[in-house]
Amino acid sequence: MELTGLQRKIVALKEEKNALLLAHNYQINEIQEIADFVGDSLELCRRAQGVEDRELIVFCGVDFMAETASILNPHKKVVIPSAEAICPMAAMLPLKVLKNMKEKYPGAPVVLYVNTLAEAKTEADVICTSANAAEIVAQLEGDTILFGPDVNLAWYVSQRVPEKTLVPVPDYGHCIVHRFLGDGSEAMELKKKYPDSELLVHPECEPEFQEKADFVLSTGGIYRRCEESPAKVFIIGTEVGMVDRLRREIPGKTFLPAKKFSECAAMKRITLENTYDSLMNEAPVIRVPEEIAARARVPIERMLEMSR
Ligand code: 13P
Ligand code: SF4
Repeated sequence: MELTGLQRKIVALKEEKNALLLAHNYQINEIQEIADFVGDSLELCRRAQGVEDRELIVFCGVDFMAETASILNPHKKVVIPSAEAICPMAAMLPLKVLKNMKEKYPGAPVVLYVNTLAEAKTEADVICTSANAAEIVAQLEGDTILFGPDVNLAWYVSQRVPEKTLVPVPDYGHCIVHRFLGDGSEAMELKKKYPDSELLVHPECEPEFQEKADFVLSTGGIYRRCEESPAKVFIIGTEVGMVDRLRREIPGKTFLPAKKFSECAAMKRITLENTYDSLMNEAPVIRVPEEIAARARVPIERMLEMSR
């Protein structure tokens, strides 16, 4: 793979500044190609731990991911190339709504998806990602769990941990990109065309789509399944950036998006141009006030201890 001029400039500047470039699986191909690490939310949390040897973290992902990296590295400068890379789902759980629900369910453990703002995380007992949500919930004491903000991820967990009752907070939290994938009828047309294919779906998808899948997995889980599976054709029920990574890194297999145009506009705010500028100017900096970061760090670290 030959890098473009701008990609080469970013790589050189990154080395000069001793910066770590982290990218989520939904980033554009050109960013993924030059990142030090590409992964799902959990993998990125882990990779953002213990980076004392780096001067700067450039986070090519959305707001809550960069905030989490900053919370885990309070003394490190973390920049995000676009201040407009804001995940709409993370904004769906205002602190006030969460506090009201906690009053209604006193003593119920609060599990929050990492797709939340730092302020909401301060009220959580433990954070989860799509890779470990069921594993985390299964380990908690108590029958009733407050879980937010994604109602589809809550449904996915309740299928796998039926002994717990999950109360969604709020009851409308969702991802617009995965909702757009609908009930998976387009994916089922592809499945008819490729009967030996595997349909891999993200747990943010609607339950009707999840029920049709061969496997429901985080983006990191989708990646590993595609590597390990004997199948040759995969239908990918998540954001299209994932398909770019699979096509680039797993040759000899065919990857088809479950539906065309399933793009996350927030992820796609990040470009090579603003990544270069962000690295050059070391801005915009992610700032989480220390009193919030200190409280949000506790449930994030608990998640990292509770999951493999
Ligand atoms: P993953 O943790 O599975 O990568 O999901 C992140 C996300 O935002 C999905 O929309
Ligand atoms: Fe947020 Fe959905 Fe984009 Fe993921 S795909 S970052 S949940 S809007």
